[in-house]
Amino acid sequence: MTGTPQISEYRRAIGHFATGVTVVTSAGAGGPVGLTANAVCSLSLQPRLMIVCLDLGSNTLAAVRDCGRLAVNVLAHEQQELAVRFAGKQADGAKFTDVAHHTVENVPVLDGAVAWLTGTVRELLPGGDHVIGIAEVSAVGGAGGDPLVYYRGAYHGLGEGLLD
Ligand SMILES: Cc1cc2nc3c(=O)[nH]c(=O)nc-3n(C[C@H](O)[C@H](O)[C@H](O)COP(=O)(O)O)c2cc1C
Repeated sequence: MTGTPQISEYRRAIGHFATGVTVVTSAGAGGPVGLTANAVCSLSLQPRLMIVCLDLGSNTLAAVRDCGRLAVNVLAHEQQELAVRFAGKQADGAKFTDVAHHTVENVPVLDGAVAWLTGTVRELLPGGDHVIGIAEVSAVGGAGGDPLVYYRGAYHGLGEGLLD
């Protein structure tokens, strides 16, 4: 089909692109903040740059603008509950209640993430109703294990059927 697709058609088509699931975190004025994000990818090896796309209306973007630093936490397949929680809206700090985490270079890192990367924001570029954030990676770590996968609007494990 040609012409501008409906939003639902666009979502259905791009939803075939299977991704991991991350929680992008930062330090807000009222405590740690974060949102579930799959619009995340590697940009450059030299220097080490990653891209994170953030909704203009997101609380996390406001914190990232102020703080200038962020972390990308790649969720494990057991962490689907965190994906659901961080996709919701709550006051700064509230999403982290009972969520095990520690601080690396001033930003929160989720315990149990298969991988995490912290970085300093180098650019925030316009991207429609999102901002394209480019961050230079300054530290990495993680627990390893199997990642959570997002495909066609649902969470999956690698090589498994649909998760609950
Ligand atoms: C699987 C999934 C992927 C998402 N990916 C993104 C993303 O890449 N960027 C984004 O800004 N929002 C994304 N969202 C939506 C945010 O998680 C959601 O708007 C959240 O409520 C924002 O929280 P905040 O306002 O506290 O930052 C995604 C949601 C889900 C469920």
